[in-house]
Amino acid sequence: MISLTLQTLFERKDPDLRLLVIGDPVDHSLSPPMHNAALEFLHLPCRYGRLRVSPEDLREAFHLLRQQDFIGWNLTLPHKLAAVDLLDELDPLARRLCAVNTVVHKSGRIFGFNTDGKGLVTGIEEAFGCAVPSVRIALLGAGGGAGHAAARYLAELNVPSLVLLNRTRAKVERLASELADRSQSQVRAEPWEMLPKVCHEVDLIVNASTVGPAPEALAMLEERHLVFDMVYGPQETPLVHLARKKGAKSADGLLMLLHQGLLAFEIWFGKPAPAELMRRALFAAAGRAVSG
Ligand SMILES: NC(=O)c1ccc[n+]([C@@H]2O[C@H](COP(=O)([O-])OP(=O)(O)OC[C@H]3O[C@@H](n4cnc5c(N)ncnc54)[C@H](OP(=O)(O)O)[C@@H]3O)[C@@H](O)[C@H]2O)c1
Repeated sequence: MISLTLQTLFERKDPDLRLLVIGDPVDHSLSPPMHNAALEFLHLPCRYGRLRVSPEDLREAFHLLRQQDFIGWNLTLPHKLAAVDLLDELDPLARRLCAVNTVVHKSGRIFGFNTDGKGLVTGIEEAFGCAVPSVRIALLGAGGGAGHAAARYLAELNVPSLVLLNRTRAKVERLASELADRSQSQVRAEPWEMLPKVCHEVDLIVNASTVGPAPEALAMLEERHLVFDMVYGPQETPLVHLARKKGAKSADGLLMLLHQGLLAFEIWFGKPAPAELMRRALFAAAGRAVSG
């Protein structure tokens, strides 16, 4: 059963709509203003839109998208893991991370890429001026699409230690033991409730869960901590707000969105993205002063 939004897309009136972000929900995504600014600046005759697709409709959506002239699309929550099985080919990094956030469409064939891992690390390094491969990390929400890919990417960087926490612990236990075998990082899974204890032994807390930890779970946060929330929104996220109140350096996911988006643009068009223009468009859409 195709959702109404998907049906509407295929009766689409705008032939220039040739790039999408697909998610559920998706209205919050700031990818369209960021990419549309670049498309306009480079006089590329296409536009980037949002498409809400439920998990049950994802396969059907890919089937229909293949038949149209889309250049490609991004995937946001909750589709990054499920999309892996719907593609004709995976880029080696996306294969290793087992998650896809960028799809390229060429003559009915679809190719999957992952730009979230690099986008995350570049975003953290820009926000905090630290070298991610040298910090000890707790990753919250490691069982979701973004968290899963982040865990795998950080383990590839051989960070000194990586503690995976997820509401559903079973989702990260096998991942932790697999990564511990393959990486030089010390990797282990801990129950979601163990964050206060884990705080003592890490430098950086990365949140990849949609809700973030409860305020009481951050009681042990210290000024030395760095807190990066992949979530972003019009207001300061509760996690960023709390971390700031405790004197810790914190940032939301806007810089990650920027850096994963620059890489996706380069994959679609095979040329450098107009980075500063996209940064300005993204920060303006978020109602923020430009950083960096
Ligand atoms: N800034 C960026 O560029 C960027 C990039 C990627 C993702 N993100 C953001 O990161 C978040 C996750 O995205 P995703 O694609 O990984 O989504 P996802 O695949 O749906 O995963 C959701 C994650 O959140 C956890 N979660 C959901 N409800 C929870 C609750 N009540 N308590 C604790 N944990 C809960 C899930 O835990 P369970 O496994 O237990 O269900 C899972 O780990 C989204 O907000 C997304 O917008 C931002």
